[in-house]
Amino acid sequence: MSMNSIDKEAVQRKTFLAAVEWLSEVDSTNSYAIRMVAEREQFPLLVGANIQTQGRGRGGNQWWGSDGSLTFSLVLKPLDYGMLQQQWPIMSLAVGLAIGEGLAPFVSHSSIQLKWPNDVYADGKKIAGILIETTSTNPELVVIGIGINVNNSLAAAPMEVRDKASSMKDHVGSSLSCEEVLITILQTLEQTLRRLGSAESGFLDRWRERCFLTGKQIGIDDSRCQTYGSCLGIDDDGALRLMTANGLQRFFAGTVTSIDE
Ligand code: BTN
Repeated sequence: MSMNSIDKEAVQRKTFLAAVEWLSEVDSTNSYAIRMVAEREQFPLLVGANIQTQGRGRGGNQWWGSDGSLTFSLVLKPLDYGMLQQQWPIMSLAVGLAIGEGLAPFVSHSSIQLKWPNDVYADGKKIAGILIETTSTNPELVVIGIGINVNNSLAAAPMEVRDKASSMKDHVGSSLSCEEVLITILQTLEQTLRRLGSAESGFLDRWRERCFLTGKQIGIDDSRCQTYGSCLGIDDDGALRLMTANGLQRFFAGTVTSIDE
């Protein structure tokens, strides 16, 4: 079996999923899940694909993928994990932490960090991205789209991607089993979601330990304006804290557009 292939029965057996669909090619697993969700009844549902032709990223960006990247969407009901809608911003951070903690043992000699809100970095380069969306047909569900550069070479990627991203294979020096990575991440994600409601989860402290932006000068675009300042990490409600020329500002949404040491 190839290091990139997925046995969907094995994935379902070893994880908390109620249903798994694995496609050879699709435009975007998130778009597919959003289109199909009204016809599905079993959740958590995983929709994965070997190839995405129109993978989407945050802020309307494209998600560049190639053979050997792991791309899937997880459709679940946050309320099943005790999460009300006002806690969804925290859930977005928690998903990033779970992916980072799930990937860390595979690239153990590299440092895994999190770029707010939920990009996963290894030694300063992005290895995984997350796009969380909702559907108008089933507003109680979220579609958690996850893209991980596992065995794909970034050599063929556009220059702007190659500069900022890398793959797990680049870090480890050899190929990894995509199925093993997927199962590990799903198990870590389930544990994180289940503990999220409890004060003992220690989730925010674990997130802060891996914060890529703390102490750096950053620019953030919150769709109203661009703000620059020194990053002071995250608050308990998940907001990003920025010390600007006009004092402390907090951001619940936005895109980090520049980072200086
Ligand atoms: C980002 O870093 O901007 C988020 C990238 C999210 C990519 C994943 S790949 C699977 C799922 N389907 C998509 O079209 N996007 C997400």
